[in-house]
Amino acid sequence: MKLLLKFNLVFVLIFAIGLAATGFVSWTLLERNARDEIAQNARLLMDTALAARAYTSSQVNPLLETQMKYTFLPQSVPAYSATEVFNDLRKKHTEYGYKEAVLNPTNPRNRAVDWEADIITRFRDNTQWSEVIGDRDTPTGPSFYVARPIRVGSAACLRCHSTVDAAPKTMLERYGPANGFGWTLNDVVGAQIISVPTKVPLDRAKQAFTVFMASVGGVLIIIGIVLNLMLWAMVIRPIGKLSNFADRVSLGELEIPEFQRKSSDEIGMLSRSIARMRTSMVQAMKMLDS
Ligand code: HEC
Repeated sequence: MKLLLKFNLVFVLIFAIGLAATGFVSWTLLERNARDEIAQNARLLMDTALAARAYTSSQVNPLLETQMKYTFLPQSVPAYSATEVFNDLRKKHTEYGYKEAVLNPTNPRNRAVDWEADIITRFRDNTQWSEVIGDRDTPTGPSFYVARPIRVGSAACLRCHSTVDAAPKTMLERYGPANGFGWTLNDVVGAQIISVPTKVPLDRAKQAFTVFMASVGGVLIIIGIVLNLMLWAMVIRPIGKLSNFADRVSLGELEIPEFQRKSSDEIGMLSRSIARMRTSMVQAMKMLDS
């Protein structure tokens, strides 16, 4: 097997192993970063929803107290304001979602669908859980969700959510007596669920990965070409010439011109040795002739 072929086989093997290892490490890092970014986005939105809720109960609710005696204003309900804030947000960012999903909600739009009901059941079975995260496919693309349980944390909730009789009349006029009752204290009735799209950050990670791998591949190919040229110019070509010279001398062409190579490297040393050998041979032949 030729020297250049051997060298290239080893180089291609190292090239492939190096590229695969770099690819594995860089994709793991890039994907983890993208997932961290997605989770951070989702948690930020969850905190925004909690802030909208807190604002409603601490600032809006007291202002509407008198008017609530005459008509029920849903603007005073924290769950309503958080949902409305997100509905506005969704006009611009359609793939994002927020839902106060409840198994037996006051407002039917909050009714939990299949996968949300599953999460609520898991929260009910594991009361110490404070968060569940996961991925799922939606019609608008893959999506990541963060869910937190909704607990009936205070007896004040029961005024409107326990029985029809206890509920304010104005509320019944608006929502009717059918839904949103029968909640009990400390019960997990639903889950706050934030959904954020994963396609954009993951696509960005894929793009960064492709560019990175293409540049690493490009650099390795350039290194391969340069090493091949060096090997050819510094070793293969001079050795070829030397072996040709030695061949001709061995076949009796003692008068051919000196093989010149001035460099002090190993090939230079070899060429000088062969030249000396030829001189010794010529002298020996002369001695034999005389
Ligand atoms: C003054 C009555 C009232 C009180 C008190 C009240 N809620 Fe509500 N709650 C409502 C109404 C009305 C809605 C429906 C709002 C809408 O139209 O989205 C609602 C909606 C909700 C929702 C969204 C799901 C659904 O049922 O539509 C959750 C969750 C919720 N309430 C939890 C609580 C908790 C927890 C408390 C106690 C901290 C509480 N509520 C106290 C009246 C009340």
